[in-house]
Amino acid sequence: MKNNFAVLGLQWGDEGKGKIVNFLSDRADAACRYQGGHNAGHTLIINDEKIVLHLLPSSICHKNALSLIGKGVVISCEALFEEIEKIEPIAKNIQERLKISPACSLIQPYHILVDQLKEKSNSFNTIGTTLRGIGPAYEDKVARRAIRIIDTLEEAKLTEKLEENVSFYNFWLENYFGHEKLDYEKIKDQNLAYGEKLKPLLADVSSVIQSLNDSGKRVLFEGAQGALLDVDQGTYPFVTSSNCSPAGIASGAGIGPLDVNYILGVVKAYVTRVGEGPMPTEIHDALGEEIANKGGEVGATTGRPRRCGWFDAVTVKRIIRSNNVSALCLTKIDVLDFLETIKICVDYDYKDGTNDYAECMDLESAEPKYIECKGWKTSLKGINRYEDLPLEAIEFIKKVEEVCELPVDIISTGPNDMGTIVVNKDI
Ligand code: IMP
Repeated sequence: MKNNFAVLGLQWGDEGKGKIVNFLSDRADAACRYQGGHNAGHTLIINDEKIVLHLLPSSICHKNALSLIGKGVVISCEALFEEIEKIEPIAKNIQERLKISPACSLIQPYHILVDQLKEKSNSFNTIGTTLRGIGPAYEDKVARRAIRIIDTLEEAKLTEKLEENVSFYNFWLENYFGHEKLDYEKIKDQNLAYGEKLKPLLADVSSVIQSLNDSGKRVLFEGAQGALLDVDQGTYPFVTSSNCSPAGIASGAGIGPLDVNYILGVVKAYVTRVGEGPMPTEIHDALGEEIANKGGEVGATTGRPRRCGWFDAVTVKRIIRSNNVSALCLTKIDVLDFLETIKICVDYDYKDGTNDYAECMDLESAEPKYIECKGWKTSLKGINRYEDLPLEAIEFIKKVEEVCELPVDIISTGPNDMGTIVVNKDI
């Protein structure tokens, strides 16, 4: 059996995946991003230095691990090369260790523009996107007109596809948004230049993973965003445009659905959300703000404040059940140190009766029903042994396990590796 594993968020993103992927990177020979783009913001603390990665896999700082970007990722070349340049002093041999699929779709200047114009316009639903062009880039992919990396390697091929795209977008920009047209030649030249730069990094990522597995090596799949932002499983339409749940791993990385044998679902001890959309357990008063302050809940990509709420076991359980999640990693438990009482949502009452269509994740009318746990009122920061946790914290963790019907294999008590309790040593 292949020994691959995955780490991904089960809420609305920002669960603290970056730290966990970086922590577990030692146990893998490669890490692979398989969906999303530079809308992600994975924060790692290495030698007391804070590093935020948007596009590169969190393994990039581990000198022996390969870092793979699978075909399900949409790439902004500008963001990619900026990030490489920034990380180069810390991450060694990036040119040899980073492998990108030539099948990745590229984010173009018109995608970013349309994302921004749509969000500003009154004629479209405001989603609160990261304004990075992610949605429009995925729209092009599904519409079968995307410019993929491979297209930038040959001028004739690029010209044919790009001309069609730019004239399509220019028509839309000019006639719908009243915006000036984009310069086709400039975009073409940029694409060709990026193609040259990308060439040495390209590899058939799907085959690289197979070869690694054939020689007994282990690959870690790193999810971006969170399952509740998954375009099919999340709170549609307030979602991102990719499959950030485990379902996206196979298609986005180019592996078989049975090639991952351990899926670690990362959940924060409370929930947060950036952007619009329903969040039944949101705390609207000063307490929500206090949790946000203590948890440093500001978007790593956009700097926007995150909305905070109580742990919602209903949505998490739904994702767990439909995604073969193996175990949980509970993060930021130390943020709740100050609380007298901690709530966990275990059920919903729907204002308009029962919900026969729960699969639609239409949570606007869901009223949360809570159980309460006693707070521990002492600092958990940096604790790295289960037996050093106060009784009330253990009770809270056990409650999370009970309501989610899954074991908590890792507990995170702080932003760096020191604050990590590995409960299941077999990971
Ligand atoms: P987009 O991915 O930029 O299209 O944004 C769609 C929705 O997903 C918005 O609500 C964003 O705030 C949210 N989102 C995108 N990326 C992240 C992330 O990495 N963490 C948390 N929320 C995200």
